[in-house]
Amino acid sequence: MTTIAVLGAGKIGEALLAGLLQAGRSVQELLFTERHPERAAELTARYGVAGVEVDEAAKRADVLVVAVKPQDIDPVLAELAPVVDSASLVVSLCAGLPTALYERRLPAGVPVVRVMPNTPMVVGEAMSAVSPGTHATPEHVALVTDLLSAVGQVIEVPESQQDAVTALSGSGPAYFFYLVEAMIDAGILLGLPRAVAEKLIVQSAVGAAKMLAEGTEHPVILREAVTSPAGTTINAIRELEKHGVRAALLDAIEAARDRSVELGKAHEEE
Ligand SMILES: NC(=O)c1ccc[n+]([C@@H]2O[C@H](COP(=O)([O-])OP(=O)(O)OC[C@H]3O[C@@H](n4cnc5c(N)ncnc54)[C@H](OP(=O)(O)O)[C@@H]3O)[C@@H](O)[C@H]2O)c1
Repeated sequence: MTTIAVLGAGKIGEALLAGLLQAGRSVQELLFTERHPERAAELTARYGVAGVEVDEAAKRADVLVVAVKPQDIDPVLAELAPVVDSASLVVSLCAGLPTALYERRLPAGVPVVRVMPNTPMVVGEAMSAVSPGTHATPEHVALVTDLLSAVGQVIEVPESQQDAVTALSGSGPAYFFYLVEAMIDAGILLGLPRAVAEKLIVQSAVGAAKMLAEGTEHPVILREAVTSPAGTTINAIRELEKHGVRAALLDAIEAARDRSVELGKAHEEE
């Protein structure tokens, strides 16, 4: 039995707990820490998982999953440092925080695996990218991959690519939500009731996502198939190109990458 403790059970931490339970892990295999007792009580009532202090989590768990906001990491590392050793496995879900930060602050030899997940974890459709730190072995990576497979898909990338991953798939769902929101507004502009516009766009998004996920055709081919000569779609595409939407996406994702780098740098000058 592998015991897993989620340190900071907010949106992502709760989604992970829920996904692991759904995948068949028992409540005895799971623990969490939370700083507000009301939130801890709410989670225990909802899932039956015990909320504990960090030292107890470190004592009882084989895997410690850090899921606090990056700006809240310092007190968590200060609490963990005296209670972990090289037999623990620390998994960081925190955007921008390098494994080197954990390795500097925790006792020598503690294995760390960095993960960038995303919010579709709440529906079991996360995209998670994992990168081992200096002391993490292929077995540690396999264990983390197995855990995260319960809540979506997992790939391994070198840690040097994690800022790009953060900008693409970490923030990625937000770009799709933004697009859907704008398209619903377009429906309203064209005089459709909001509920109708929402249904049309959300189901189109689900259908398009399924076609993409099947992976049999490249996105360009799929789009070309909807773009008939002198048809409606090409008129829309001309406007998207005129407004520089492709260039805006490139710039937007580059800006997200830069922010991820900046978040990591905040912890570099120590
Ligand atoms: N949301 C995303 O789209 C996304 C995607 C990829 C990665 N991530 C990463 O996932 C991590 C969590 O994000 P989130 O959106 O789930 O944030 P969140 O909802 O704010 O969850 C963080 C949780 O940790 C708790 N916490 C803070 N300090 C603590 C401490 N010292 N001990 C115990 N609990 C503590 C917070 O409590 P309070 O509410 O009291 O502060 C909160 O419940 C972040 O590092 C983020 O970079 C998020």
